[in-house]
Amino acid sequence: MQKLSLLNKEFAICDLPFILLDENFYSSIRREVNPERLRYLSEASRNLKLPSLFGKFSCDADYLSTVDLFIKATEETRNRGMFLLKKLLPYFPNFDTFLDVGPGNGKITSWIGRKFKEVTLIDPVPQVLENIQPKSYPSSTVLKKICRPFLETILPKNYFDFILLSHVIYHFPQEKWINAIESAMYALKPEGTLAVVINSGLDREKLGNNFNGKTHSIESFIHQLSRTNKKVEVFLSKESFYAKDLTTMLHICGLHLHDTNGKAPKEELEKYIESNFSLGNNSYKMEIYQYFIVIKNELTKNSY
Ligand SMILES: C[S@@+](CC[C@H](N)C(=O)[O-])C[C@H]1O[C@@H](n2cnc3c(N)ncnc32)[C@H](O)[C@@H]1O
Repeated sequence: MQKLSLLNKEFAICDLPFILLDENFYSSIRREVNPERLRYLSEASRNLKLPSLFGKFSCDADYLSTVDLFIKATEETRNRGMFLLKKLLPYFPNFDTFLDVGPGNGKITSWIGRKFKEVTLIDPVPQVLENIQPKSYPSSTVLKKICRPFLETILPKNYFDFILLSHVIYHFPQEKWINAIESAMYALKPEGTLAVVINSGLDREKLGNNFNGKTHSIESFIHQLSRTNKKVEVFLSKESFYAKDLTTMLHICGLHLHDTNGKAPKEELEKYIESNFSLGNNSYKMEIYQYFIVIKNELTKNSY
C-alpha cells in the first residue's frame, strides 16, 4: 500500500497520512464490472423512470431502484466489503454488537453482520428496513431495526463494538457531520471501532460542481477529526462506474447528483456525460475516490 501525505493542495493542511489501497491490497480479489453485467444494466435502466430533473427522486421506490442500478455499475461495494472484512474485522476484540447506519440494500450489513451476535439498523426509510430480513443471518443473530434519522436517534452509551456509516453521511447537513461522529463515538465501546465511508473527488466532484451541487469538503472534515485525540486512519481507493449506454449513465449520474445535492435537466446532463465520461463506442466510465475513515475510541495519538 502506498502512503500519500499530500494528494492535493488541501491535504497539506492535514497532519494525517492517507493510505492509498492499490492493486497490491485488493490483488486477486479486485474485479471490475464484466460485459454480462453491463448488458444487465442496460436492460434494467430501460425499466427505470426518467426523473423530471436528475438528482431528484419523486418517491422512495424510484430512489431504491436507482441505488440498485448504481451499486451494480461498479465494484465499489465489493471492494468496500473486502476492505472492511480484511482490513478491519480481523483486528476486532469482540463481535457482540454491530450498528449499521443507513444500510441501503443490506448487502454490506449482512457480510459484516453475520459475524456479530446482535445487528442494529437505523434508517428513516421504512422500505429499506422491510427489505432486510433475518434469513440473511444465522438464526442466533438478533436483528434490531430503528426507523428514524440517525441524528434524531438516542443511542445507548458504550454499547457497540462496531459502527458503520457507509455512504450515508451525505444525507446529514455538513455542519452536523462532526455531531454524527460524536454521537457514534458515545455509543461505541471503549475498544470499539467506527468506520465512515465517503465517496469524493475526481469525476463525482466535477459533476456535482458543474450542476450547482455542494460537494463536501472531506479534507476539512478529516482535518477536524485529526484534531481530536482519537486514533484516526484514512484509507482510499479509486473506484470506477461503467455503463454501456447513455441512459444507464444518466441514472448513475442522477444518484451522484442526489448525493451531492446537484440537479440537472436531461439534455444538459447528456451533453456533460458525452464530453466527460465517454470512452467511445457507447461506453462510459467515471471515477471517484472511496474514502475509509477509521476512528478508534481510544485516546491514542494519530500514528499511522
Ligand atoms: C447510499 S445508501 C448506503 C448503503 C450502504 N450503507 C452501503 O454502504 O452500501 C444510503 C442509505 O442511507 C439512508 N439514509 C438517508 N438518510 C438517513 C438518515 N438521516 N439517517 C440514517 N440513514 C439515512 C438511506 O435510506 C439509504 O439506506
